[in-house]
Amino acid sequence: MNNITNNIYYVGVNDHDIDLFEGQYDVPLGMAYNSYVIVDDKIAIMDTVEVRFKDEWLNNIDKVLNNKKPTYLIVQHVEPDHSGNIISLIKKYPDIIVVGNNKTFSFINNFYKLDIKNKLEVKENDVLSLGKTELKFIFAPMVHWPEVMFTLDMTDKVLFSADAFGKFGALDKVDPEGWACEARRYYFGIVGKFGLQVQNVLKKLAGVDIKYICPLHGPVLDKDLSYYLNLYNIWSSYQNETDGVAVFYTSIYGNTKKAAEYLYSLLEKEDYEKVTLVDIAREDIYESVEDAFRYSRVVFATTTYNGGIFPKMNEFINKLIDRNFQNKKVGIIENGTWAPGVIRTLKAKFENSKNIELVEPFVTINSSLTEENKKQLINLVSSLK
Ligand code: FEO
Repeated sequence: MNNITNNIYYVGVNDHDIDLFEGQYDVPLGMAYNSYVIVDDKIAIMDTVEVRFKDEWLNNIDKVLNNKKPTYLIVQHVEPDHSGNIISLIKKYPDIIVVGNNKTFSFINNFYKLDIKNKLEVKENDVLSLGKTELKFIFAPMVHWPEVMFTLDMTDKVLFSADAFGKFGALDKVDPEGWACEARRYYFGIVGKFGLQVQNVLKKLAGVDIKYICPLHGPVLDKDLSYYLNLYNIWSSYQNETDGVAVFYTSIYGNTKKAAEYLYSLLEKEDYEKVTLVDIAREDIYESVEDAFRYSRVVFATTTYNGGIFPKMNEFINKLIDRNFQNKKVGIIENGTWAPGVIRTLKAKFENSKNIELVEPFVTINSSLTEENKKQLINLVSSLK
C-alpha cells in the first residue's frame, strides 16, 4: 500500500487514455487524479477521481479500509476530474458524510443533480477532528474555482492543496524534465489569471509548518518545500523567473523566421541566464504561454494578416492578456508587404496591461530582411538589456 505518513494513504489513479486534459491541454505523459485516505478513529477520503476510474479507485480505497467504513468524504474541488465518483462512493457507503463549503454542494447539484442530505458544511478555519488528526479548512477561492478549499492536517503537518502545486503527467511515468516544467505549464494554463487569489492563499499559509504537500495532480511533495512555495510565489505575483529573452515568431514563407533567428543569434551572445526561440504555430501553445510568463523579456515577431496579426500569434497573445501578462520588456518585429499593422495592433492589445514596456526600435520588415533591418535588430538587442 502506498502510504505518505503512518495514516495517510494514496489512492489516486493514472490516466493514459486522455487526449486533452480539460478539453485543451496536451498531456503527453498522461494525467494523475490524486485522492487520499486518512485513517484515524474516523476515516476521511480526500476527493474522488475522474468518473472513468471508478472501479480502480474504489478498489484502491478497499485495500486501505480493510472492511472499515469511511466517515467523511472531503470535497476540496468540484471540478469533475475530482468529483466524478461522488455518486459511486455514496452508493457504496450511504452513511458517508460529505464535507464541503457553502458553494460545494450547489456545484455538486449542478453537475450531478444530486442533493446531498448527509453533509457537513464547513467555514473557513473550521477544524474537523478524526481522532488524533485535526483537519483545518483553508479556503482558496479561484485556485482554481470559487469553492476550492485546502485542508491542513495540523497533526502530521500535511497540506492537501487541491489543484495548487499540481502538474501534468501520470505518476507511473518519469517526467524527464522534473517537476517545474509541467507544473509551470499547468499553473499558467489553468490558474495563471488568478495570481492575486493564489497570493491570498499563500499569505494564509505563511508561517505554517508543512512537511508534505498533497495536491490533486502530480506527485506528493515532501522535500525542500520552500522550492515549490517560492516558485508559486514568483508565478502568482507575476515576477519574472528567468533573466532572459524569449523570441516568439510565426512565419508564412520563412522571412519573419529569418529575422527571429537573426535576433536569437545575437541574443545568444549576450550574458543572459537563458534565451529561447519559439515557432508559435508549431509549439504547444501552453508551453509558449509558460515561457512568456517565465522570461523577463519577450519579442513577438509576426506577420500582418487581415489587417491585424497572424492568427496563431493573435491567439497566443490573447491567452497572455487573459492571464494578466505584465512586468515585461517587449520587443516587436512586424512583417508586411503593403500595409504592416503588427505594431499598431500590439500597442492596442497591451494598452491596458500592467507594466509592459514596449522597447524600441520596433522593427518593420517589408516582406524580407534587409541590412537596415539587421542594424535595427542589433539596436533592439541593446535596448532589451
Ligand atoms: Fe483538477 Fe480544477 O481541476
